[in-house]
Amino acid sequence: MNDNIDNIGFGNRVQGGSCGPWPLSGRTRVFCIIGSPVSHSMSPAMHNTAFECLALDAVYVPFEVTDLSRAVRGLVALGIQGASVTIPFKEAIMDLVDEVDETAAKIGAVNTLVIEKGTIKGTNTDWIGAQRCLEDLLPIRGHRFVVLGAGGAARAVLYAVTRQGGEAVVVNRSVKKGRALADEFGVTFFPFTAIDRINADCLVNTTPVGMHPYEHESPVSDTVVRRYEAVVDVIYNPLKTLLLAQAEAAGCGVASGVEMFVYQGVKQFELWTGQKAPVERMKEAVYNRLLNQ
Ligand SMILES: NC(=O)c1ccc[n+]([C@@H]2O[C@H](COP(=O)([O-])OP(=O)(O)OC[C@H]3O[C@@H](n4cnc5c(N)ncnc54)[C@H](OP(=O)(O)O)[C@@H]3O)[C@@H](O)[C@H]2O)c1
Repeated sequence: MNDNIDNIGFGNRVQGGSCGPWPLSGRTRVFCIIGSPVSHSMSPAMHNTAFECLALDAVYVPFEVTDLSRAVRGLVALGIQGASVTIPFKEAIMDLVDEVDETAAKIGAVNTLVIEKGTIKGTNTDWIGAQRCLEDLLPIRGHRFVVLGAGGAARAVLYAVTRQGGEAVVVNRSVKKGRALADEFGVTFFPFTAIDRINADCLVNTTPVGMHPYEHESPVSDTVVRRYEAVVDVIYNPLKTLLLAQAEAAGCGVASGVEMFVYQGVKQFELWTGQKAPVERMKEAVYNRLLNQ
């Protein structure tokens, strides 16, 4: 577990915050994130802020996991009621849970576990975050989205776009992987070399190009960026990637990965607690973590 108490969102509990009181008790419900690495995850700060705000007797802790199957058995043994799943386990966990819902099966990844009466159910909330993030910029239906990348984040974005009646195009470095993903979702594929010939409304970067510590990199040129009305980068560290800076300079609407991250967390919180999430406080907790890390 993380050894810095403020890093896991306990700051207000320890020091007395604006939402408190937020006591732990003998009946405290425990939620967690499993992944590797998890020490820089923003999920603990986000979920603990939400628990505290609603004065719920619940806590969210980070677990750095090396042996996934033993960790999953441990969740049930310890009575943990829900978990986020992050890199590198979103796919591997699908074989270790009791049920995978239709959405997670279609996306091919589980990022959320709901554990009830010893049964572990796997679902995916990343696509909800992606949908919300895109809809804040432009309606999905009737618009064309270029998705750069063919990994887990790309799958969540493609699920959201196709489900909402938008048109999608996959562009990926590895042609084989990109084409296979496009075929799976029934959309078009283009190799990266064709990027300056694609016409679309919104560009969505789901590659890690531009992520800390490679902030000076962008997946595309200024000329390519100018072809779009809106640009989304699913990266949230840094908050403003070089791609988003290029897009702002070109007058495009922009959204960072923070929105996507917060809204996948909002859905997790609501699945676990059955309560409406304090969205603005969760967003604030994430921005605070990002600005003060
Ligand atoms: N905001 C959120 O809530 C959220 C949620 C999930 C992920 N993310 C972010 O999304 C990013 C991708 O995550 P992921 O889980 O989708 O990763 P992933 O499964 O490893 O997929 C990464 C994709 O990016 C491509 N790629 C990697 N390096 C590249 C490079 N130098 N040039 C061009 N393409 C490159 C890969 O292409 P190849 O197929 O050719 O290898 C692959 O298709 C990460 O930065 C992650 O933090 C954000």
